[in-house]
Amino acid sequence: MNTARLAETRDRRGRPLHDLRISVIDRCNFRCPYCMPAEKFGGAGAFLPRREWLKPADIERLARAFSGVGVRKLRLTGGEPLLRAELPEIIERLARIEGIEDLALTTNGALLAAQASALRRAGLRRITVSLDAIDPAVFARMSGGYGDVDSVLAGIEAAVAAGFHSIKINTVVQRGVNEDQVLPLVRHFRNTPHVIRFIEYMDVGNCNGWSREQVVAVAELRTRIDAEFALEPLAPSIGGEVATRFGFRDGAGEIGFIGSVSLPFCGDCNRARISAEGKLFTCLFASQGRDLRDWLQQDDAALAASVAGHWLLRADRYSELRAERESASPQRVEMFRMGG
Ligand code: GTP
Ligand code: 5AD
Ligand code: SF4
Ligand code: SF4
Repeated sequence: MNTARLAETRDRRGRPLHDLRISVIDRCNFRCPYCMPAEKFGGAGAFLPRREWLKPADIERLARAFSGVGVRKLRLTGGEPLLRAELPEIIERLARIEGIEDLALTTNGALLAAQASALRRAGLRRITVSLDAIDPAVFARMSGGYGDVDSVLAGIEAAVAAGFHSIKINTVVQRGVNEDQVLPLVRHFRNTPHVIRFIEYMDVGNCNGWSREQVVAVAELRTRIDAEFALEPLAPSIGGEVATRFGFRDGAGEIGFIGSVSLPFCGDCNRARISAEGKLFTCLFASQGRDLRDWLQQDDAALAASVAGHWLLRADRYSELRAERESASPQRVEMFRMGG
């Protein structure tokens, strides 16, 4: 395939490859029970040794190859990406890749106050901060006892001061755990340039003990918020955002909902993920990834062709099939290992 053809690669369901999410580390300074429960991931032994992390130069090479196959948007994730000391170098390398239109990062925000300016200087364009509660006690519980809400709020402020004007805030909602935080969070972020997005709790990985009863569906969240602050639907943003967008009728800004369980969005899923040790996943619910280390031995053209060939065979649509698959309970890779 020539270069132009590669960029038009579609998977078996006709979906292009547009977003690449790169995990730079599987470790985290939080232990959110829905992701990395402390009782299962207490010690360092559960994580990759440093020598297995992809080097910044390899990350850059992979991102260049993916950009040749159509990727326009890069997102750095973890674990907690701010724990990787080479993060500014990785960002600098990715920021200069031709064809990449968006370079973003997802963080828990705890270390953001100290690093926001350096990340901006390195070329990062956008930041998403995970924030599951505004009440200090609920926040502490949601982070497994490791996080402090004030440090995350300070991180958001520092990011604004560093030039990240509008920040996305991700809130995972769990029934009976932090659902009482939804309205306080909406009140907190109304009348700011930031966009809070409520995410349905998902059955990713195997260790969070997920059950459908703990999911608060988008329709219910929307009704609750709408009762206090009237909402109106907004047009989907260009670029295939996973969130359904709403504006406050009184002009106080925008919010979003990510209905991964009740409103699956596999139909236009154009995302691939690379884990910190260099495995390629074409679905968040995959049970295994493709090791990219042997592809890294190839020359640039062969590397891009390998990526395209792999994408061509993709048929993933887990969220659409959830009802049938749930009971089968396959072994799935944890989200912090694959990249969020
Ligand atoms: P923007 O382009 O800024 O909107 O980023 P994004 O929405 O692609 O990224 P973000 O990391 O903020 O995604 C928000 C959350 O949506 C993730 O943390 C996941 O919980 C969920 N999500 C993202 N992509 C997928 C996906 O492909 N499948 C499923 N099931 N959930 C996803
Ligand atoms: N369900 C939904 N979202 C999750 N995240 C982590 N685990 C889950 C889950 N089980 C979210 C984090 C963060 C993003 C990377 O993914 O809260 O916002
Ligand atoms: Fe860390 Fe994010 Fe997982 Fe929480 S959800 S444990 S902050 S990687
Ligand atoms: Fe994409 Fe898999 Fe999520 Fe569906 S479940 S949207 S295919 S990552």
